[in-house]
Amino acid sequence: MEIESICCIGAGYVGGPTMAIIAEKCPHIKVTVVDLNKDRIAAWNHEDVSQIPIYEPGLSAIVAKARGRNLFFSTEVDKAIHEADMVFISVNTPTKTYGLGKGMAADLKYIELCARQIASVSTTDKIIVEKSTLPVRTAEAIKNILHNTGNGVKFEILSNPEFLAEGTAVTDLLNPDRVLIGGDTDAEGQMAVKALVDIYANWVPKERILTTNLWSSELSKLTANAFLAQRVSSINAMSELCEKTGADVNEVARAIGMDSRIGSKFLKASVGFGGSCFQKDILNLVYIAKSYGLNEVADYWEQVIIMNDHQKRRFATSIVSTLYNTVSGKKIAFLGWAFKKDTNDTRESAAIYVADYLLNEQANLAIFDPQVSEMQILSDLDYLESRSTDANRKGISVSEDVYENCKGAHAIAVLTEWDEFKTYDWQKIYENMQKPAFVFDGRNLLDGEELQKIGFVFQSIGTGK
Ligand code: UDX
Ligand code: UDX
Repeated sequence: MEIESICCIGAGYVGGPTMAIIAEKCPHIKVTVVDLNKDRIAAWNHEDVSQIPIYEPGLSAIVAKARGRNLFFSTEVDKAIHEADMVFISVNTPTKTYGLGKGMAADLKYIELCARQIASVSTTDKIIVEKSTLPVRTAEAIKNILHNTGNGVKFEILSNPEFLAEGTAVTDLLNPDRVLIGGDTDAEGQMAVKALVDIYANWVPKERILTTNLWSSELSKLTANAFLAQRVSSINAMSELCEKTGADVNEVARAIGMDSRIGSKFLKASVGFGGSCFQKDILNLVYIAKSYGLNEVADYWEQVIIMNDHQKRRFATSIVSTLYNTVSGKKIAFLGWAFKKDTNDTRESAAIYVADYLLNEQANLAIFDPQVSEMQILSDLDYLESRSTDANRKGISVSEDVYENCKGAHAIAVLTEWDEFKTYDWQKIYENMQKPAFVFDGRNLLDGEELQKIGFVFQSIGTGK
């Protein structure tokens, strides 16, 4: 089966970039990305391509090339589904905030809504592709809904989890380590798998396109994120021990990373991992394990989250204790709010939790991030519901100029590893701060020795300095 028309439901961090690359690499396929959120679609269609809603290096150039040619962004969901041979589901699957599994299980209501909508508008056979990260065996539920509520047309379900990381989405998509496609093992299922393999084969070498059964594919995505997050929590656990013993976590990471069995990636000690996936996916894994009665398995993975929460709190408490046990009324300047560099995404960012802790201690926070807006920062804090929206507005200020932001501050906290932070005029920053001037580097980003020469009191994660 040759695919001529694709629809993707969900124009977010996953759906937007993924479809832009497919469209760019497959000019013979019409790709339509739809979303319920009208503002988001309008932003994707913005005349000035630098205004698209998602910041990713290299993305706007690709959108500029394909948009209007074979890449379209639209709010006409039914029409796009109806016309498509293949429908990607790329809507969000947040952690449930109510009922059974609250705080752990994935909320699948958007997925179910998509399945029902696809069933009701389809008049021709379609291949449905799960792009969103889902609990293992979700495809079964989707299948059930499609077959029981559809108009008698045939649906094949595939799982094709996304492994792109934000900030490097374009290079990850152009040159993936592997593409994973899971499908039914019967003849029809394998035909659907082949149709999707053929799309990726337009730019991905065949040996990197891996095909499995549906359940292996679904579970592999959760497993990959759990393993990656576990590495960060493992090195963060060591960072605390390094501080107590005089070891330097960066040296430890280098030493173990050169062991080819361990490898060097994801060993950077930090204030804690964030992002939309790690926490959500591990909680989901824990919930699935529990629901099968596998309590030891659940506890094992839950510890990755417990360690991460500890690391965020530890960073915040260390700021307070170093500043003579009180930050009340003191100005603390944040460098960075995004959950990692090169993205404007702030979901589950460690900065939110550190800010929350310091606001409870009545600090005044001055926040600077090269890509995150004041509106987003306030909405992240309001979402926690720790204090009134008024109190959040009183407690923080947001500046577009880093030197203004740090003026008069008692301390600077580095929460995101933006490269530009290294290039600032730190002498100038120092001169305009309260003394002693503290820098708390939550990302092991800055050159501590250089800063100490200027006069800063410098602390970074896991170095005992
Ligand atoms: C999300 C999850 O974070 C990730 O785990 C999953 O693999 C894919 O979905 P992301 O693209 O980052 O990834 O989410 P988000 O930026 O929130 O985009 C989802 C989009 O779907 C939103 O724009 C939302 O408006 C849209 N949506 C949601 C619909 O169009 N219809 C719905 O019913 C629900
Ligand atoms: C992750 C996975 O990498 C990706 O494959 C999956 O599809 C989605 O989830 P993402 O959340 O975009 O991607 O970012 P990632 O680069 O994995 O970083 C996650 C968090 O871990 C960030 O807050 C990052 O700063 C932190 N991190 C990462 C560390 O603290 N130390 C490290 O060594 C690596």
